[in-house]
Amino acid sequence: MRNSRILIFGRIGQVGWELRHKLACLGQVSSVEYPEVDFANPDSIRSAVRAVEPAVIVNAAAYTAVDKAESELQLATAINATGPGVLAEEAKRLGGLLVHYSTDYVFDGSKLTPWVETDAPNPLNAYGRTKLAGDQAIQASGCDHLIFRTSWVYGARGNNFLLTMLRLGKERAELRIVDDQIGSPTSSECIAQATSDVLAPGGAGMQGRSGIYNLTSSGETSWFGFAKAVLTEAESRFGSPFPNLVPILTADYPTPAKRPANSRLSCERLEQTFGVTLPHWEHALSLVLDTLTEGSSSVSPKA
Ligand SMILES: NC(=O)c1ccc[n+]([C@@H]2O[C@H](COP(=O)([O-])OP(=O)(O)OC[C@H]3O[C@@H](n4cnc5c(N)ncnc54)[C@H](OP(=O)(O)O)[C@@H]3O)[C@@H](O)[C@H]2O)c1
Repeated sequence: MRNSRILIFGRIGQVGWELRHKLACLGQVSSVEYPEVDFANPDSIRSAVRAVEPAVIVNAAAYTAVDKAESELQLATAINATGPGVLAEEAKRLGGLLVHYSTDYVFDGSKLTPWVETDAPNPLNAYGRTKLAGDQAIQASGCDHLIFRTSWVYGARGNNFLLTMLRLGKERAELRIVDDQIGSPTSSECIAQATSDVLAPGGAGMQGRSGIYNLTSSGETSWFGFAKAVLTEAESRFGSPFPNLVPILTADYPTPAKRPANSRLSCERLEQTFGVTLPHWEHALSLVLDTLTEGSSSVSPKA
C-alpha cells in the first residue's frame, strides 16, 4: 500500500476533501473532480483511471441530493450506480482495490436494533436505491473492494446539517427539528481518518477482506439531539443566540424522499476486522467545531 498510486474521485466533496489530506502519507495521491470527470459519462471515468493506473481507487463522488434524486433518478443512477460499476471494472482490470462509500439509506429503518452488514437492504427513497445499485455493481464486478456504509455526514465545509444549524441558529428565533429519526452523525474527517487507518497496514493485508463495512461514529442521537448539541456548543464557543428548539415528528416535516426511522449501523465488523473504531459523535463534533473556531479570525463561523 505505501508508495503506491492512489486516485481519489470527488476531491471537493465533504469526504473527498478530507481524504486528500488523510491519505497523503500512504502513497502518491492524485485526485479528480467534476467536471474534469463526469460520472454521467463513463468514458471520462475510464480515461481518468487509465491516465494514472492506480493501485487504489477511492470514490467519494456521489449524487447526494436526497430529495432532488426523487425527480432526477436518471442522473442519480448514472452517478451512484453506473459510475461506481465502471470504477469497479477498471479496478478489476488493474488488479487494484476500490474503496467506495455507501449509506444507511439502503435500509428501511424498520429494525429496532443497529443494522448489520448482512441485513437485507430495502431503500425507502430513490437516492438509497441508486446507492444500493452501486454497491451491487461493485460486488458483482469481482474486484477487490471496501464499501464503507456511513451516515449523517457533516464537516467544516460543504452542505451539511452542522453548517445549516449554525446559520439558521443565527437567523431564526425558533427551529423545529425532527426527533424520531435516530442515527450517528459522522464527520467527514473521521471517515477519511478511518479509511486511512484501514489502508495503512498494506495491500496484502486487504486480501480476503473485500466487502461491506459499516463505518460511523459511535453513540446515537436524533436530528433534534444533534441540533441541540450543535447550538449548545455554538452558544458557548461563539456566543451565538440559542433559538427555541422544538422537537417534531417526521410526519410534521414532509419531504419528497422518505427517510428511515432507525439509521443506526453496527460497526462491529469494522472493529473486529481492522481494529478501527470511530470516536463518539459528540467528541467528533467538538473536534470539527475546533476547526471552525481556529479557521475564523472573528470567532464566528461562516456557515
Ligand atoms: N452526505 C451524507 O449525509 C451521506 C450520508 C451517508 C453516506 N454518504 C456517502 O458518502 C460519500 C461522500 O459523501 P459527501 O457527503 O462527501 O458528498 P458531497 O459532499 O455531496 O460530495 C460529492 C462529490 O461528488 C461530486 N459529483 C457530483 N456529481 C458528479 C458528477 N456528475 N461527476 C463527478 N463527480 C460528481 C461532487 O462535485 P460537485 O461539488 O461539483 O457537485 C462532490 O465533489 C458518498 O458516497 C455519499 O453517498 C453521504
